[in-house]
Amino acid sequence: MSPNTATAIAHPNIAFIKYWGNRDQTLRLPENGSISMNLEELTTRTRITFDQAFSSDIFDLNGLRQSGPALQRVVTHLNVIRGIRGIATRAHVMSENNFPIGAGIASSASAFAALTVAAVNAMGLEMSEKDLSRLARRGSGSACRSIPTGFTEWYRGNSDMDSFAVSIAKPNHWDLVDCIAVVAAAHKKTGSSEGHKIASSSLFQAVRVADADRRIDRCRDALLARDFDALAEIIEEDSNMMHTVMMTSRPALFYWEPATIEIMKAVQTWRKTGIPAAYTIDAGPNVHIFCESKALENVKHRLASIPGVKEVLVAHPGSGAKIV
Ligand code: PMV
Repeated sequence: MSPNTATAIAHPNIAFIKYWGNRDQTLRLPENGSISMNLEELTTRTRITFDQAFSSDIFDLNGLRQSGPALQRVVTHLNVIRGIRGIATRAHVMSENNFPIGAGIASSASAFAALTVAAVNAMGLEMSEKDLSRLARRGSGSACRSIPTGFTEWYRGNSDMDSFAVSIAKPNHWDLVDCIAVVAAAHKKTGSSEGHKIASSSLFQAVRVADADRRIDRCRDALLARDFDALAEIIEEDSNMMHTVMMTSRPALFYWEPATIEIMKAVQTWRKTGIPAAYTIDAGPNVHIFCESKALENVKHRLASIPGVKEVLVAHPGSGAKIV
């Protein structure tokens, strides 16, 4: 194989209904289905070059040469894709995130979505969106949701073959905005890959998983009907349930900071006074506050006045992963 290059971009996504826990750690088959929105303003751009002259894979992230677990995770994912193509050619991967590094914004979804699309293209493989999503899932579960456009649903599925994400609404379906209140920029101590492994040690995980289809149906209905109150209720309940599991796992995972709970309480109070805002929190202390665009300036202003909020990033519904 002569040198082959491709560049792809992908956006991270924020889950309305969360993925937490795998039934197969290697294949990253989730315990439950999930629903999310791609974040347009936040972008990962990845360029990959395969060259027989390389003796090992190289991975640069934001201009810094990576080693250890970060490199190994990329190599493992490339090995899966090389296995499909039946080649052993090594690659140089150059990835850039436009969002502040260490701002606690999960980048593995956009990272593995962009890497998958770039690597498949550079190898000359033709793949459907479904197969790209299945493949991205192997790198990071939530990456499968960054392949299709807009608002996406990841099917739990029965096997590797049918666990993938599809678009359930285009980005322009609803003028929702995600205001990301950054309360801590430090790297989280326990990443989600580790968290998924201990999810089942919480007695509440079985209850959370058993009820997942109800939450997914409610969320999908609210989203398709653009019913903000119904969406607010279900995403906050779902986020609270995931954090209940995290806090009762062995060892217990506490991702919140004092400002996290201040924001959660404030958002609930705002909604009672008619402001369309709702929160959801991933495996970190930062809070994603959804609102309709008519409330954006008001919500941003209020968030900025809460002690402990360092920065507010704004993201609109985003497109899927693509070659550029
Ligand atoms: O894809 P991972 O392994 O980074 O897991 C993502 C887990 C959460 O962000 C907490 C929830 C989700 O569905 O995105």
